[in-house]
Amino acid sequence: MELKDAILSRRSIRSYTDQPVSREDLEAILDLGMWAPSGVNFQPWYFVAIQSREQMEKLLSVMDGVSTDLEDNLRTRFANNPEVAEESLTFIRNLGKAPVCILAFRHKPNYTKTDETIVQSIAAAMENILLAAVDRGLGGCWMTAPIETGTGDLLRDMFAPGKGSLVAVMTIGHPARIPKAPTRKEGRYIIL
Ligand SMILES: Cc1cc2nc3c(=O)[nH]c(=O)nc-3n(C[C@H](O)[C@H](O)[C@H](O)COP(=O)(O)O)c2cc1C
Repeated sequence: MELKDAILSRRSIRSYTDQPVSREDLEAILDLGMWAPSGVNFQPWYFVAIQSREQMEKLLSVMDGVSTDLEDNLRTRFANNPEVAEESLTFIRNLGKAPVCILAFRHKPNYTKTDETIVQSIAAAMENILLAAVDRGLGGCWMTAPIETGTGDLLRDMFAPGKGSLVAVMTIGHPARIPKAPTRKEGRYIIL
């Protein structure tokens, strides 16, 4: 697939088929994440790919609480589009039935560079992973809902004890439904 096609066709997928993600695909997309740029070449990421039923159930039990914590907030925010609130809450609760969920942590609890530098580096690796997934016919959705509810440390202690804090989670799987592309805002760059 052309890079341009991968960038343009990538959508946030919130519903997945029950087709598993092969080990080969999962390792290939994670490996491409490692090739992202990073501040001072710290490569400050640590990814935990959750795939087994047992670990997924542990994660889903936490996500159920995240969904409950965000319910009032999302219902108020999308008061005019209740179906959007419903879809968001369902996705947070069941992760769209994704066969894989990747948790992105800081590799170390502390770095000598600013938090911005560390988070940008991890985000660069996450975008590589998302685009690599699209290239293999998979889809994903970046999600920070657990961070918004202060659940990151619980997930870190559960899945990556001793590592740094959680930056985001990302579902991966075969898309059951591909949403329409949200429009992009005008005027967000200038060439001087
Ligand atoms: C940092 C970040 C956090 C996000 N958090 C969530 C989330 O918690 N829940 C969710 O459903 N989507 C989340 N998204 C996906 C965005 O809603 C989505 O990227 C945006 O609506 C544009 O749609 P597109 O990805 O299909 O182009 C997040 C995306 C980013 C980059």
